[in-house]
Amino acid sequence: MTALKIAPLFQPLDAELNATVDFLQGLLPPEALTLADATTYSLSTLGKLVRPAMVHALWQAITGKPSDDRVVKLAAVTEMIHLATLLHDDVLDEADLRRGKSTVRQRFGNRIAILGGDWLLAQASQTLASLGNLQLVSFYAQVLAELCEGEVLQNALAYQPLAEISWDAYTQKTYKKTASLYVCLAKSVAVLAEADDLTMQKAIDFGNAFGMAFQFHDDLLDYTADATDLGKPILDDIRNGLANAPILLLFQEESQQAFLEEAVQTIFNLVQEQAPLEAIDQACVALKEALHQRGGIALTQALIASTRQDAQSALTHFKTGHGLNILGALLKA
Ligand code: FPP
Ligand code: MG
Repeated sequence: MTALKIAPLFQPLDAELNATVDFLQGLLPPEALTLADATTYSLSTLGKLVRPAMVHALWQAITGKPSDDRVVKLAAVTEMIHLATLLHDDVLDEADLRRGKSTVRQRFGNRIAILGGDWLLAQASQTLASLGNLQLVSFYAQVLAELCEGEVLQNALAYQPLAEISWDAYTQKTYKKTASLYVCLAKSVAVLAEADDLTMQKAIDFGNAFGMAFQFHDDLLDYTADATDLGKPILDDIRNGLANAPILLLFQEESQQAFLEEAVQTIFNLVQEQAPLEAIDQACVALKEALHQRGGIALTQALIASTRQDAQSALTHFKTGHGLNILGALLKA
């Protein structure tokens, strides 16, 4: 029942990604009917499949071989964990829109969204166990903890004065919340491929740099994208009390600090006072314009470019072919 259009970039992985989607959509639904509806809905609104594509592409770049059943399962496990985090994240963020569609929580309620996420985690655990490799179990157990810690670290940073948010704290949060899953999948592919230590390290370096750049880019889109293209609201981080990369990078310039402190605090106050939406929107748009004019956007673009370059350097170690081409193209997407 694959109803998914594979992104043009991933066409060379068409067979592998279709096998992954078939595996996901072939999971036996839960007996509880509402949960079955919710998880089926969630599995029918898959996104671009960046993580499964990376599992398959990295496997090909390390081994030069097509993916086998184990790699398909690993790709499915990674996507199930990602989906579970999104189901839970949309409850935490009270989000109504994802990938241009209603969120599970909006459609089925918060309880079902939480339980649906839990159910997906259980399926991921079972599939992982079926691979019979304790090292992989350990990697995925670690990443679940990191994802939770990342979310809690983010929570601790929310609505804090900018002077209290160190770049280190922001990057630690970003690693745990986003890059950790890419590092986990990269390490796991290397283990399945029985790769040597250097290859393992290059896979980790790629996953880490790709994941960090991915989140910096996500931060940037909040101030540069259009809500329809993004499939979710823009200016959402700041409305949720989160100062992300464009703000924090610009804040490192002393001459910008007073302005930014004032602009960000104004928004936080308006949100916390539950001011009319138009007033919040106006303050967010003013901040967005200032980030463009004062250089926060350019600083973030430069950081994304240098982090992607780190990922590109790690790739020089791998075998040429479709897998490597896709990993390289993903960095430019
Ligand atoms: C999206 O963030 C959320 C994540 C990348 C991770 C969320 C992690 C949790 C909710 C905790 C762990 C949960 C499990 C199931 C292990 P975002 O809100 O910045 O992005 P968005 O704009 O796409 O919502
Ligand atoms: Mg969210």
